[in-house]
Amino acid sequence: MSEHVEEIEALLHEGRRFFPSPDFVAQANATKSIYEIADADPEAFWAEQARGLTWEHPFSTALNWTPPNATWFEDGLLNASVNCLDRHVAAGLGDRVAYFWVGEPEGDQRRITYADLLAMVSQAANALTELGVKAGDRVAIYLPMIPEAVAAMLACARIGAPHSVIFGGFSADALANRILDADCRVVITADGGFRRGAPSALKDNVDAALASCPDVHAVLVVRRTEQAVTWVEGRDHWWHNVVERQAMTHTPEAFPAEHPLYVMYTSGTTAKPKGILHTTAGYLTHVSTTHRMVFDLKADRDVVWTAADIGWVTGHSYIVYGPLCNGATSVLYEGVPDAGGKDRWWRIVEEFGVTILYTAPTTIRTLMKWGDGFPDSHDLSSLRLLGSVGEPINPEAWMWYRSVIGGNNCPIVDTWWQTETGGIMVTPLPGVTATKPGAAMRAFPGISVDVVDHEGNSVPDGEGGFLVVNRPWPGMTRGIWGDPERFIETYWSQVPGRYFAGDGAKRDEDGDLWVLGRIDDVMNVSGHRLSTAEVEHALVAHHAVAEAAVVGAADATTGQAIVAFVTVKANVVVAETLVEELRAHVGQLIGPIAKPKTILITPELPKTRSGKIMRRLLRDVAEHRALGDTTTLLDPAVVEMIDELMRSSSSDD
Ligand code: WT7
Repeated sequence: MSEHVEEIEALLHEGRRFFPSPDFVAQANATKSIYEIADADPEAFWAEQARGLTWEHPFSTALNWTPPNATWFEDGLLNASVNCLDRHVAAGLGDRVAYFWVGEPEGDQRRITYADLLAMVSQAANALTELGVKAGDRVAIYLPMIPEAVAAMLACARIGAPHSVIFGGFSADALANRILDADCRVVITADGGFRRGAPSALKDNVDAALASCPDVHAVLVVRRTEQAVTWVEGRDHWWHNVVERQAMTHTPEAFPAEHPLYVMYTSGTTAKPKGILHTTAGYLTHVSTTHRMVFDLKADRDVVWTAADIGWVTGHSYIVYGPLCNGATSVLYEGVPDAGGKDRWWRIVEEFGVTILYTAPTTIRTLMKWGDGFPDSHDLSSLRLLGSVGEPINPEAWMWYRSVIGGNNCPIVDTWWQTETGGIMVTPLPGVTATKPGAAMRAFPGISVDVVDHEGNSVPDGEGGFLVVNRPWPGMTRGIWGDPERFIETYWSQVPGRYFAGDGAKRDEDGDLWVLGRIDDVMNVSGHRLSTAEVEHALVAHHAVAEAAVVGAADATTGQAIVAFVTVKANVVVAETLVEELRAHVGQLIGPIAKPKTILITPELPKTRSGKIMRRLLRDVAEHRALGDTTTLLDPAVVEMIDELMRSSSSDD
């Protein structure tokens, strides 16, 4: 972080800003005046955007706000899947490509038009209805990045059944917890998916998870890898049997604007993930508006590639709902960036003429590490806009993205938002904003944010504080599934009356925003959000472990890396294999993404006199920094000993 800040300061000192080209400005969707228009009357601004959706029954008021509960467009009626599909087909755009799908194995491709997708979704909606799914029932989706994942989501939306998509990298245990928390009764999965060349064992994970989820009565299984799967008669159904024999039409029902659209689990500061609830009209308004303005979308020409997984909110908002609402054409890629060679991404950009690329800094840094030769050997001139999301982007990666990938020709939008915000909140507007490498710049029109202290007072420009949102916005989460108190406590209690995001930020002397990262116990590893408590919880569930303390330590590629400090129980003899065993154990309880990069077995953990583990000092240890203030510790020698251990163990590798 400190290097990052120095680098930013050096760039600012040079006065480095990037203005879009006059050509870009001339054709841009966004104009300067949009900020004033939206600021003058944010509700009217959002209402106008919402009128761009197709309503079965129009709404009469934009916002009802009883803090901390907001509803938007409440008396309107609409159907999310109609907004994504039917209305485009009805407008004659049925032949437009919705997705160029690229499987991980070379040559494995499908081209899905809006008409194709509508037919698939209608069939899937009919199938879900046949399986007994009704409006309001929750459906879990655990699929690879294949067109059926989009179809499954939209089929749920079409019949008013909120979906809960669970990232394919989560383990059976994590899957079971999420299925139980939302009380899902049906699961949609696949025999597997391709990632890193090997088929994944999605169906096995579902089978293992369902051992503890007795209320799931049906599992729909897409055939993707053709590997053998175990089968539970009566419960399991092949997608190609049940879905593909259905009628290709389905009459949609209109639902209230606030009908739940989906739940997405994300990590908070405790060990239990939170089911973030999003509803229909406000969410669709937010994601379609931001997708059009932030990415300067020209739906009839652009090819948009949001290189994220559908299992995260970025995929929901900017692979599925935003682009489809806008009638855009997207690329959907199943695999990892180096499948079939480290130039795989650039081949995809070239082949499909991708114009808008949106990805995470961690991926940009990885691509950068592989060297310029891979992008340089491909024609990337179709690109006209680049986006970044998920974590602070360091200026070096920003500059590389701009020059090597964008040919110094593409505006970069660094977009700050969260699972809870539904869509983009802080971002430059291409064609309007002169950007600074590493700055997310300013709130999107109609959104109001601030940087404040504990009492909620704005801090002066140049100083750090908490990033808060001042008033409700359409895509705002409507709560945590089944836990209204936690919703109030997490987001609305830290800074009185404001939405507290959990991030630190500062405004520079021009008033532009720099998001500095989480200030709570949430880690950001490769753009994945993980809680320290969740990983600690998994570690102490291992029979050998007495106590565990987990911190996120700065990492040049993944942003943060998980570092765990573990003490073992009195009678345990530490075997050489223990560290590997613990990593595997965390992988099993949460998923491979949560495996600590480093585990240090130590005789003791540093504690205050009141018995609290001092994570701040462990972070110093993990980042190989001089130790901070140790005076409140019960025994400062403990952390010095751990520091010594860490130094000697890292000089071993
Ligand atoms: C957290 C939210 C937004 C979709 C992907 C992640 C961090 C996100 C930025 C950015 C600095 C960022 C924040 C935030 N974050 N975008 N442009 N600059 N930090 O969604 O898993 O809900 O994580 O990601 O720390 O709180 P998420």
